[in-house]
Amino acid sequence: MALRFGRWLAFFLAPIAFGLWPMSAWAAPFWPVSALTTQARSIQWLFWLVMTIAMVLLFGVLAALLFVAVRFRARPGQPDPRPNYGNVRVELWWTVIPFATLVAVFGFMLRTVNDDTSIASNALPVTLVGHQWWWEFRYPQSVVAANELHVPVGRQVRLDLQSADVVHNFWVPQLAGKEEMVPGQSNVWTFTAEQPGRYDGACSEYCGTQHGWMRLTVIADAPQDFDTWLAAQAQPPASGIAAAHQPALQLYASNACGGCHTIQGISDGKVAPDLTHIGSRTTIAAGELANTPDNMARWMADPQTIKPGSFMPNFHFTQEQAREMAALLEDLK
Ligand code: CUA
Repeated sequence: MALRFGRWLAFFLAPIAFGLWPMSAWAAPFWPVSALTTQARSIQWLFWLVMTIAMVLLFGVLAALLFVAVRFRARPGQPDPRPNYGNVRVELWWTVIPFATLVAVFGFMLRTVNDDTSIASNALPVTLVGHQWWWEFRYPQSVVAANELHVPVGRQVRLDLQSADVVHNFWVPQLAGKEEMVPGQSNVWTFTAEQPGRYDGACSEYCGTQHGWMRLTVIADAPQDFDTWLAAQAQPPASGIAAAHQPALQLYASNACGGCHTIQGISDGKVAPDLTHIGSRTTIAAGELANTPDNMARWMADPQTIKPGSFMPNFHFTQEQAREMAALLEDLK
């Protein structure tokens, strides 16, 4: 009897345990209850509302089930109970209650979707283009960045979400809900960061092999820090770069890196991340590696082992060449 009860308990508790698992610390940025903007709070409110309704229903049904199973269990010597067909009253209730619940949830969802869609006149426009498997950000003043979206605190950001290839999905749970990035279309999305900080995000629509490493980071800066960052990004690389990195720049030219990548004043490829200021980013390979000279050299030597299927090919650089390339890239601040 004790064992049977244990099995029953496990049967009911396992789903709850699995539900709690995403609350663990590493998942916090992706857990929908750490909202930090008006929009995210609105989603968080909806999440808790739907969760509460679902829990009331779940435990209500479980309690009824347990009660019926115990109260009307078979007893020795008892005949089979009389079958009971077509109870109109019961069938009406179990149709009306779920229907009314779903209509109510739909109404609340519409309210959240339509919450706060106005666009401020001073909103910062940023065009965000999804690529397999990285993010391109186009700011005013022809600034192009990748994978780290700097925004000013307290000023609305107006994103024009686009895609260069397949459908992606922009998602930074603490700041904003999910929005599709569809080829040939521009979806407008806004949010206003309220506190400086780093906010993790990810592509949330399966888009191919490296969907899992299509991460982005939103970096919310104080307004003056943002202006400083934008002004620095608008500049070409420092003038001493060419002289200091001749061998690397020769490798860059002879391997036609510039056919895909831009380094202002050196190449203007558009299909891969802009490298003009790659040294100023904190991660590489769309969030997979911290941006350190060692990791950059590893990436140069063998990107296909680090991120299989990525469109960055292996150039079979020697360790020495990989280090020279990494030194060049790290100097592109
Ligand atoms: Cu892009 Cu998944």
